[in-house]
Amino acid sequence: MSETATNPMDTHSMHTHTCGELRRKDIGKEVTLTGWVWHRRDHGGLIFVDLRDRAGVTQISFDPEHSGGTAFHEAETIRSEWPIKVTGVVRGRPDGQYNEKLATGEIEVLISEIEVLNTSKTPAFQIEDHVDTAEDVRLRYRYLDLRRPKMMSNLKLRSDFTFAIRQALHDRAFMEVETPSLFKSTPEGARDFLVPSRTQPGHFYALPQSPQLLKQLLMVGGVERYYQVAKCFRDEDLRADRQPEFTQVDIEMSFVDQNDVMSALEEVLADAFGKMGVQMQLPLRRIEYWDAMDTYGIDKPDTRFGMHLHDVTGIFANSKFKLFAKAACDPKTFVKAINAKGAGKWPRAQIDKLADVAATFGAKGLAYIAFREDGKVTSPIVKFFSDEEMEALRKEMEVEPGDLVMFAVDTRLKADEILGGMRNHMADALDIPREGHDFLWVVNFPLFHWDEDRKAYAAEHQPFTLPTETDVAKIEADPLVAGSYTYDFVMDGFEAGGGGMRIHNAEMQMAMLKLLGFTEERAQEQFGFLMEALKFGAPPMGGFALGLDRVCMLLTGSDSIREVMAFPKTSSGSDLMSDAPSEVSGKQLKEVSLRLL
Ligand code: AMO
Ligand code: AMP
Repeated sequence: MSETATNPMDTHSMHTHTCGELRRKDIGKEVTLTGWVWHRRDHGGLIFVDLRDRAGVTQISFDPEHSGGTAFHEAETIRSEWPIKVTGVVRGRPDGQYNEKLATGEIEVLISEIEVLNTSKTPAFQIEDHVDTAEDVRLRYRYLDLRRPKMMSNLKLRSDFTFAIRQALHDRAFMEVETPSLFKSTPEGARDFLVPSRTQPGHFYALPQSPQLLKQLLMVGGVERYYQVAKCFRDEDLRADRQPEFTQVDIEMSFVDQNDVMSALEEVLADAFGKMGVQMQLPLRRIEYWDAMDTYGIDKPDTRFGMHLHDVTGIFANSKFKLFAKAACDPKTFVKAINAKGAGKWPRAQIDKLADVAATFGAKGLAYIAFREDGKVTSPIVKFFSDEEMEALRKEMEVEPGDLVMFAVDTRLKADEILGGMRNHMADALDIPREGHDFLWVVNFPLFHWDEDRKAYAAEHQPFTLPTETDVAKIEADPLVAGSYTYDFVMDGFEAGGGGMRIHNAEMQMAMLKLLGFTEERAQEQFGFLMEALKFGAPPMGGFALGLDRVCMLLTGSDSIREVMAFPKTSSGSDLMSDAPSEVSGKQLKEVSLRLL
């Protein structure tokens, strides 16, 4: 250990400096470094090694004169990814031989002593950024993958952001309280992971989908301002931004209204993002749910580009194009359109393929008009349009040569969803630049949506959400019109967090569960403990949960949350390193009174 060390990494360690630390000012110092052999170059009589650790890379060199016989001889034997400890003197690299790519590129260390700490098998892939290694190989050898500088910096950023937001919450009197992972099955939208009880055969714990109920109980318990960096477990189909086990920064406040919660959250988020060098303009924009749907076709819009949805139903009231004219007569059906600038230059075959993309968002077809640069149009439907309809459309969609106007004909929500999906698809396909970060709230979600599979109402956020006061009376008659005190935090077109105000009245909670299709008995069985607690003076409360993995994905510019998780799972839920999930012994099953089907 170096007694004068200012870098905490250099205390209580075998090394005096990290591999990212030495600069010109250190020339002449004797230093000890540890790390992995990254690249080794033999230059006839001289050996250069890039030594890598968590902090960076330093070039070390061996020559038979300065390094003495043994060190030089040992240096000839070392191979990639061997951990070594070396001691030597820092010297400047000759002019013109600086390595601009390395922070330590102006110096190198001429080694006099080397100790090989271990050897290594040849890694399954090169420990380099920008090398195309199949992800399953990376996951199988995750510990090697983590040695790549990019992965290490992702982990560091995640640690820094988590620390910053903890600090921001702590500074504002939020108390971190841990809640159990072995808890009761309380469905919140996804499937539960179940854990069999050994001591109570036939009974199961569930891993929490979020600490939702527990944080509400903490409010009844008087904690008033709670947070927790909480692991959540949801057995659902995985995607790039979903994992079965993920982390929330979970927050709850009591004796507050929605504005109190949202402004407190904005301060916390601005503080934490600010520490990461990302400035957030406060107050954040608030977009009503239905405005977001109508304009962007999605409840998590990326507003860094336009391509807004337009309702063009009115233009086609008397159209000869039956599909549009029929929609114009039916109050439940809409003709909506987007204009993808630039795609009007695409060849017809490429444009025709967009119907397949639209189908993935539920479209039954994709009518379009491509406005060619020579003034002509390519379109399967334009032959039916009158000059007036065409003119009105050009005006509404601000058409220029090179534009592609696409239409969706469907119910309001479906047409929105189809074009919302197409809008994001086209932004990617056209490589529309999206610079900086985009933060906003989407507020006032509907309380319910209709679940076609279950043929029942389902909670849009969760069953504990407080309905908009003025809508309470209307709920029974038409549940779908009711709004709710809810807010999603949207970052760069991703749902980075969500929350709402809670029901703090037992009768209202029971009524809500009944609307969701629970019988009184089932509601009591599953949520009786919550409703009982609400009867003991539960205060008004509301809260939020930030998806930590998603935020870190966006801050690091990654395209999957797996890039910011040390040990993520594959899309089939496996851990490729340990082979989990795996079979267990008959004895283990017997202990928990289970027999396999
Ligand atoms: P919600 O279900 O919206 O709210 O979750 C909050 C945030 O967590 C992130 N998230 C996920 N991240 C990775 N993988 C997943 N499978 C996953 N699921 C969700 C998202 C999301 O915005 N109890 C409420 C919060 C509240 O009302 O206070 C809840 O869990 O970024
Ligand atoms: P059709 O009359 O079915 O041949 O459709 C004419 C055009 O309208 C085709 O380009 C279809 O892809 C398109 N189309 C059909 N149904 C819809 C719909 N619901 N929304 C948008 N376009 C559609």
